[in-house]
Amino acid sequence: MNDSRLAAGLRAASVPPFHAMAMSARATERAHRGLPTMFLQVGQPSSGAPLGARRAVMAELEADRPLGYTNSPGLPALADRIARHYRESYGATVDPRSILVVAGASAGFTLAFLSAFDPGDRVGVIEPGYPCYRNALLALGITPVPIPVGPDTHWAPTSALLDAAGPLDGLVIASPSNPTGTVLDASSLDALVAYCDTHGVQLIADEIYHGITYHGAAPSVVDRSDRVVVINSFSKYFSMTGWRLGWMVLPDHLREAVDRLQQNLYICAPHVSQIAGLAAFDCTDELDGHVRRYAVNRDLLIDGLAGAGITNIARADGAFYVYADVSHLTDDTMALCGRWLDEIGVAATPGLDFDLTRGHRYVRFSYAGAVDHITRACELLATWKP
Ligand SMILES: Cc1ncc(COP(=O)(O)O)c(C=O)c1O
Repeated sequence: MNDSRLAAGLRAASVPPFHAMAMSARATERAHRGLPTMFLQVGQPSSGAPLGARRAVMAELEADRPLGYTNSPGLPALADRIARHYRESYGATVDPRSILVVAGASAGFTLAFLSAFDPGDRVGVIEPGYPCYRNALLALGITPVPIPVGPDTHWAPTSALLDAAGPLDGLVIASPSNPTGTVLDASSLDALVAYCDTHGVQLIADEIYHGITYHGAAPSVVDRSDRVVVINSFSKYFSMTGWRLGWMVLPDHLREAVDRLQQNLYICAPHVSQIAGLAAFDCTDELDGHVRRYAVNRDLLIDGLAGAGITNIARADGAFYVYADVSHLTDDTMALCGRWLDEIGVAATPGLDFDLTRGHRYVRFSYAGAVDHITRACELLATWKP
């Protein structure tokens, strides 16, 4: 094997695991053995796709049509519906031709990173943040540059923090964020967009948790710049993780490159899921009901954690997570989460997934799941002794 092939192989093999998935596998295995297990590590709704989406799919299957490939950018009706969503929900005009339907936000990241960056480019990723940005960049030979945020800036990136990171080719932001739930307000978004436009930084905004907020809607970057890439998905608000469906809103300079990459890498997003996604836009009553449930769960979890002495938490304005500093209990949350699972059956995600530097002091709890799991987990945590 020549040196460059060896290097590529080593690069792929050195991509870190997504610890939340490993914790989920351990929790599922424990529950499978019949042991009581509280699933607070999950990053997905416990509900399924909304009824209207399932009905649309059933009708399509009954009609016995072939469900072959769609156009590479996706069903035109779905692009039109997404553009209408931007008009109705944000007052933003989005050209349906700038929308590309993808196999989940995850596919959108690959397409965005491949089209916008070259190996060796430096791309800012917020820490704590969703680990797969960093890991996907690493897999592509692009250098993730951590931008550490904390309570002093309400867990939001600022121009000063970007300056401190040195010259960047790109920046990935998420609002609401996973794991902190931070929602970037309009002025923060304006400042980040202005920074990126002035410094020639390609901004990629992950808006997957839009629709799941507790103090007013999250503003979008979609109409704040004509250079930004927006990525969204049917996984969270729409409650359709396994359908693997998302979308990108692309600036003119990347549209053709991303379209070609999609043709070659994925052909198109799953046709059946696109039919479901189109119908899901008309299911807001059901979907808003889930958000109301998360709001109740959120309060229960925050109060319950306080009862267990865990009070140092991020603001959790959106998404469905509480990111908690548990340094009074440990400086090794990988071990702590393992012990919680083995000793009291509480599954949570160690912060190392989200922050390589400070994550060993933090844990992420999800409140997307069942309310009885949340209440019982808090009772168990309150009685647990380190
Ligand atoms: C911030 C963030 N972006 C993207 C994803 C993955 O999205 P998808 O299921 O659309 O690939 C997740 C999943 O947890 C996430 O938390």
